[in-house]
Formats: sequence, structure tokens, C-alpha cells
Amino acid sequence: MKQMRANKRSTEQPLLSVEDLKVTIQMDNAVLKAVDGVSFTIEKGKTLGLVGESGCGKSLTSRSIMSLNPKECETTGEILFNSSLDQKLKGLNILDLDPTGKKIRSIRGKKISMIFQEPMTALSPLYTIGNQIMENILLHRTKNKKEAKQIALEMLRKVGISDEEKRFNDYPHEFSGGMRQRVMIAIALACNPELLIADEPTTALDVTIQAQVLELMKSLQDELGMAILLVTHDLGVIAEICDEVAVMYLGEIVEKAPVHEIFNQPKHPYTKGLINSMPILGTGKQRLEPIEGTVPLAINMSHKCGFYDRCTHRIQGICDVQAVPETQVSSNHSVRCFLYNEHEEDEQNA
Ligand SMILES: Nc1ncnc2c1ncn2[C@@H]1O[C@H](COP(=O)(O)OP(=O)(O)OP(=O)(O)O)[C@@H](O)[C@H]1O
Ligand SMILES: [Mg+2]
Repeated sequence: MKQMRANKRSTEQPLLSVEDLKVTIQMDNAVLKAVDGVSFTIEKGKTLGLVGESGCGKSLTSRSIMSLNPKECETTGEILFNSSLDQKLKGLNILDLDPTGKKIRSIRGKKISMIFQEPMTALSPLYTIGNQIMENILLHRTKNKKEAKQIALEMLRKVGISDEEKRFNDYPHEFSGGMRQRVMIAIALACNPELLIADEPTTALDVTIQAQVLELMKSLQDELGMAILLVTHDLGVIAEICDEVAVMYLGEIVEKAPVHEIFNQPKHPYTKGLINSMPILGTGKQRLEPIEGTVPLAINMSHKCGFYDRCTHRIQGICDVQAVPETQVSSNHSVRCFLYNEHEEDEQNA
């Protein structure tokens, strides 16, 4: 089995290409490696799911793409956004742009939109829903207020808010959690972005509303042709909507594959653990097996595999002394685990 860099085979340029992304945070006495060499691509119109337990670096990875990390973070690597609407962006590393400058502001909210993890706090309580949707439209699509209002009303209809003329003038506190999340989606999609980043878009919602919001995102994606980066700790959400999945652990992507392969042929012991610990409707799974232990803090990590202490397949003398290389197990499936090195092929199906 050959080790190769993932995602280099496609001849067409992907919409988004992230290479060796690192986010470090200086703590009192040490450096936290919150994101540690993450690489992935997203093709036009496709959905990549980024999944992993709390604290593994999903939000910092996704915020990096909009150059929105908090100022205490040092962010390095390469993020290329191949917009088909703006040729001037081709080859430009987003991380080289001034994070408050004109260029990044022409991308944010227009070509790349984000639904943030905190839906309840992301809307201002002081302005009407209509005003908040119109704000982004007036900034990026039209200066004509009448036209902006028409687009805003159309977006409210699209996200399933009926009686939109009346709801337009309501304030966020007059909406339920699910409805506010719909408004967030309306704001994010009002400018027809080429890429939508959705960070835990349904976590705060109950299960029925969650299914409705995912359905809504899928149908709007079909209609508008945008790509989605979906960030979640929930594999059930991933199964609903994603084409490809990247599994993160302790700041690294430990496995990446098409969604059906992740569920049917998971390789990394962490991915298997995540699948075994979740209830999946219709599988008749009898018993859930949580992964033992907790995610350590990414401070002063030695060369050992980050999952070593929790892994039931760990190989002493190998996994605890060497950095884990990425192995390509098939053309579109990669894994970062010594079980899949050339010398360990027999262990693959363990
Ligand atoms: N501003 C900050 N200052 C210090 N540490 C931070 C900061 N932001 C994030 N971190 C730490 O960086 C790591 C990754 O954070 P991140 O928010 O990306 O995780 P996450 O995968 O999105 O988790 P969750 O599922 O809980 O949202 C965590 O250990 C977190 O505590
Ligand atoms: Mg997060």
C-alpha cells in the first residue's frame, strides 16, 4: 500500500483547498496546538462533514477559512478559494489577506457565508429580523432598499417562514429556536454564496426541527449549487447530508473518505469508536459503546499518536514513539494510523 498525499488526483481545481493549516494559541506556560496540519478540499456543490469530539479544533478550522479566528490565535498554512465569480481570488492565500481589509470583506458573507455555532447569540436583539437579513443584501447585492426587501422576503419564504410580510418586522425574541436558526440560514444564503460553512447548525435544536433544518439546507443546496462545510460532533447529522467526511481528533484529520465508506468501512480506531458510540436509526444496534477516556489538551504533545492512550489497538514501541504518517488506503480514502502501514496490512480488519 502506498502512502501519498490525499486529494491530489482531481484535475479540476476544487472550490476550496486547505493545506497544512495550523492554529496555535500561546497559553501561560505552553503553546496549545489547537489545529495541527489539517489539509482537505471541497469540490463545487459538494458537502464535506468535519466531525470529532468537543475541543478537537473543528470551529477554529472553519473560522480560519473566513479569517475570523480570535486575535490570540496564530494561524498558518494555505487556504485557496477558487471562486468562479472572481478570477482575481485564484491562487490567493486567504491567510495572507488583512483580516479586516477590503478583500476579505468582499468574500465574507458574499462568496463564503457562515452559520455560527451560537445561533441564539448571533442575532442582534435590537433589530428586526428583516433588517438583519437586508443588511447583508444591501452590503453585497444591491443598494436599492426596495429590491433588498423583496430578496429578504423571498429568503424568508425559502427557509419556510410563512406570513413573511409580518415576520419581517418581528424581533429575534419573537421567534422560537428553530425559527431563529432558519433566519440564520436566510441571512447566510441571501447572497447566494459559493461556500456555506455551517458550524453545528442544528445542535441547539430538538430532533424534529434538526431534521427539518438539514432538509432545508439540502434543498437550498440543490437549488443554489453551493458547497457546504458542515461542522458537527454528530455522525447522525453527517449521514444525513454529507458527500465526504473528515474525522478530526486532537487538531488533526485522522481519517477522510466518502460518507458511505466512513460508515461501512471505517479504518481508524477513533472513527470506529465514534460509530460504535452513536445510535443509528434503522440499524437495530443493540448496545452503544462509548470511547473510554477523554480528549487530552494539545499541549506539549510528544511524537506519539494523539489517540494512543484511548486506543484499544495501540502498538507499543511504534504508536507511542513515531509521528503517524497519512496512508492512502484507496483513491479517496486516507487514514492516519500505523495499523494501515505497509508492514501492518494483516491488522487492517482488526
Ligand atoms: N480563544 C481561545 N483561547 C484559548 N483556547 C482556545 C480558544 N479557542 C479555542 N481554544 C481551544 O482550542 C481547542 C479547539 O477549539 P475549537 O473551538 O476549534 O473546538 P471544537 O472542535 O469546535 O469543539 P466544540 O465541539 O466544543 O465546538 C480547544 O481545546 C479549545 O479549548
Ligand atoms: Mg466548535
